[in-house]
Amino acid sequence: MKLDDVKRERSLLYMERYVDEGAKTYSVLASRTEAAPCYRPESDQPSFDLIAVFVPPERVSVYEAGCPLGLSSRYLTEEGVLFPIHPEAWASDEVPGLADIRTLPRAPEIPVAPTASTRTVLVLESDGNVPAHFIKLHYPFYISRFKRKLRRKDIHNAVAATRELAFINSPKFAYLPEVLGVIFGAGEEAWGYLLREATAYPPIIGGRFLIPCFALYAGDRRDPGRAPLLVQLIDHHQADPASFVVHAIIAPIIECWSKVAHELGLLLQSHAQNLLLEVDEKLTPRRIVHRDFDVWVDLGAREKAGLPNPFLDIDRRPDKVHPVGQFYSLIYDRFMGRGFFDYLLRLLSLHYGANEEAIRQAVRDIFHRAFPDADRVFPAHTTYYFSDVPPPGRDFDLEDTGQAPIWR
Ligand SMILES: Nc1ncnc2c1ncn2[C@@H]1O[C@H](COP(=O)(O)OP(=O)(O)O)[C@@H](O)[C@H]1O
Ligand SMILES: [Mg+2]
Repeated sequence: MKLDDVKRERSLLYMERYVDEGAKTYSVLASRTEAAPCYRPESDQPSFDLIAVFVPPERVSVYEAGCPLGLSSRYLTEEGVLFPIHPEAWASDEVPGLADIRTLPRAPEIPVAPTASTRTVLVLESDGNVPAHFIKLHYPFYISRFKRKLRRKDIHNAVAATRELAFINSPKFAYLPEVLGVIFGAGEEAWGYLLREATAYPPIIGGRFLIPCFALYAGDRRDPGRAPLLVQLIDHHQADPASFVVHAIIAPIIECWSKVAHELGLLLQSHAQNLLLEVDEKLTPRRIVHRDFDVWVDLGAREKAGLPNPFLDIDRRPDKVHPVGQFYSLIYDRFMGRGFFDYLLRLLSLHYGANEEAIRQAVRDIFHRAFPDADRVFPAHTTYYFSDVPPPGRDFDLEDTGQAPIWR
């Protein structure tokens, strides 16, 4: 992909789907998927259809955070609540509640295209009254490490986090709000969907374009000889490569992550798939756009900030099993450090012969400036990651990797 094409319509979807070559090597499970080839992001099929039914309003719970009327009226209709389902979930006999759902009146199918996450899809609708949006779907099959369920607590907490993120005030921070969540039925296993707007908040007047962060360093499946977008971006600005990566990309990412953790006690999963770089007409990086509010919550940090706990099931999350510092390490050391910054560093080495240790040191300095109390929160000499064999009955377990932190 040519850098200038970032400004073309639908370029975000192209990058989500095809500019990910070599990006999913961050763990032994990163490239696993149970999705049929036609539903994978990299398929050649331009779109597929979600099955949809109309559910009577008394059979759903609806969570909402500043959802624009054009969007809510598309889903909360007079005929009932529009309830989209991934075709593979629809076809499965193991999804609770589905037998019930199959008896409800069918709505017209919804044409969508998959994004890099596979189960979050872009709605391909041309009705100008409906703001552009993604649907995050319940997808109880393995994509990388987890079955991608979307249950009550996930939906409730994502919408609650969206509400809180409106209070973050920084010129570098933006987000794709998760504005409406719908759950069918009741009980622990009840599931549903989330709507995520495709336009970054706070809104900006003038042209801004989004690049998913993995597409900065990954290869383009359809244009394999092309230099990575980050290399094109550095060359376009005739920038000093190391300084550009450290100051225009890594520094604001760390600063945003630390600000949200300190001010709200929310641990955003700021890895390369959940972050987008926003550039302006001149392709100058302007903001870090955050998505996917499947957050862990540091209740201690919230208490310190004088904030209540509007989140569901947080005490039942394994913070009780694992001290919260292990989650800080999982996210910063592994998701951000090893799963993202390492890739940027490799690219700088390969293309520009950069001094790796000097870059790491510059990032460590930025980290400690942004996170002055890091020693109180993070494990001092080691890092934590998922165990490859979680204990029975649990989705995951964290283990001490015995590896020292590199990026702090
Ligand atoms: N560089 C990356 N880092 C982490 N996950 C990635 C990356 N590229 C693609 N992914 C995919 O994104 C998925 C996570 O997305 P998920 O959290 O389910 O949905 P969403 O982010 O749309 O809310 C993972 O299963 C993984 O396969
Ligand atoms: Mg994600």
